[in-house]
Amino acid sequence: MNDRNTAADALVLFGASGDLAAKKILPALYALERRRLLPSLVLGVAKSGWNTDDFRNHARTAITAHAPHAATEDVTRLLGHLSYVDGDYREEATFAEVAKHLKGSKSPLFYLAIPPSLFATVIEGLHRGRIDKGGRVVVEKPFGRDLTSAQELNKIVRRVFAEEQIYRIDHYLGKEPVQNLLYFRFANGFLEPLWNRNHVRSLEITMAENFGVEDRGAFYDEVGAVRDVVQNHLLQVLAILTMEPPVRFEMEAVRDEKAKVLSAVQPVRPEALVRGQYEGYHQVPGVAPDSRRETFVALRTQIDTWRWSGVPIFIRAGKQLGVTATEVLVRWNDPPRDLFVEPVRALSNYVRFRLGPDRVEIGLGARVKENGEAMSGRLVELEVDRSSSDEETPYERLIGDALRGDPVLFARQDAVEASWKIVDGILDERLPLYLYKPNSMGPTEALGLTAAYGGWYDPHP
Ligand code: BG6
Repeated sequence: MNDRNTAADALVLFGASGDLAAKKILPALYALERRRLLPSLVLGVAKSGWNTDDFRNHARTAITAHAPHAATEDVTRLLGHLSYVDGDYREEATFAEVAKHLKGSKSPLFYLAIPPSLFATVIEGLHRGRIDKGGRVVVEKPFGRDLTSAQELNKIVRRVFAEEQIYRIDHYLGKEPVQNLLYFRFANGFLEPLWNRNHVRSLEITMAENFGVEDRGAFYDEVGAVRDVVQNHLLQVLAILTMEPPVRFEMEAVRDEKAKVLSAVQPVRPEALVRGQYEGYHQVPGVAPDSRRETFVALRTQIDTWRWSGVPIFIRAGKQLGVTATEVLVRWNDPPRDLFVEPVRALSNYVRFRLGPDRVEIGLGARVKENGEAMSGRLVELEVDRSSSDEETPYERLIGDALRGDPVLFARQDAVEASWKIVDGILDERLPLYLYKPNSMGPTEALGLTAAYGGWYDPHP
């Protein structure tokens, strides 16, 4: 039986010739092999007309493109683990071939780096080919397209795998600064009295990207910003930011609290939503010429719990914005009376978490007096932490965890469903859509959402 704490003895990568494999998974496998953490067999499966040598050549190219300082001997060792099966996922022969390679394996890890529309086909193929036994499965996001399809997909996966054998990957959970958010909240007593509706004025999460959809047009046009990053990455960040303290730092206790708080987040109403699309999106290869898919979204919601009731929560994500940064801003209430009458009052009274990608920061914003006669001030930020990005990439960490059988950093089905419930009412492409200029911070209509709360905080480059 392959369950928690049983290390996988083989890794089977479906979608071995795809974009995700080239950009993230193969470089992560290289990093794991450097630390000698890979099982002896890594089997790529795809339908590209390749053989094992082609797959190895592809892997070498992908690794050197994404890990330019890769050491030749480590790459060569990794290539030695790789084998390849070429075949159609709808054909039994493909799984019979995979089964041949897996002979003797008791606990394989199946990684589905494939479009969600193929999940069911592959999972059923594993089952019919009798190679699912003792296995674990890693499923890429988005898990479903909406609440109903996520539930249906789960039924299919659960027919073959038990919940503890399913690893729903969300690479944000493998990011060091996201884990630090959890740590910082619960390792410091001073925050707790201030971390609630009595003191917090608003919570804001921005994920801005200064680049477009580029070579992922066909994928992105099926998905859009809400499914791509809000339903998963940003709601996971929100859960960590707002969950109750778990009774202990242990897998199910942490996941219970996250699921609980997500289930209390109000579904976003279309009136509290601004969808945008950057000018030029229609020219991206793979995008439908009349697409109404959102490349930007800004929304407001709140959490119906004792701790958070009434506190506005603003979330914003978009492509082709003026900066690339993911930041969280928690603003505390202003002092009850404004003693110092100042023409322009600087933003202050906040904690800001920059979660990357280039740098990681935690800063406390406060006002201090300027020198001189006037009682007026400026913002200073007390720097709590500043560090460079991860040493270990999220994919390296998460694939390593899945190989070891540690699911703590993977999403549980109840949290996935709770997240779909939050966004289910805003997935409709017929909702209003506003164009915005590349390099801006999205359509101006989004400003209205935060106007009464001091406006959006735009991360610095
Ligand atoms: C992915 C999305 O999940 O996350 C991409 O599909 C997005 O659209 C990416 O660019 C951002 O991840 P990171 O780690 O670069 O912030």
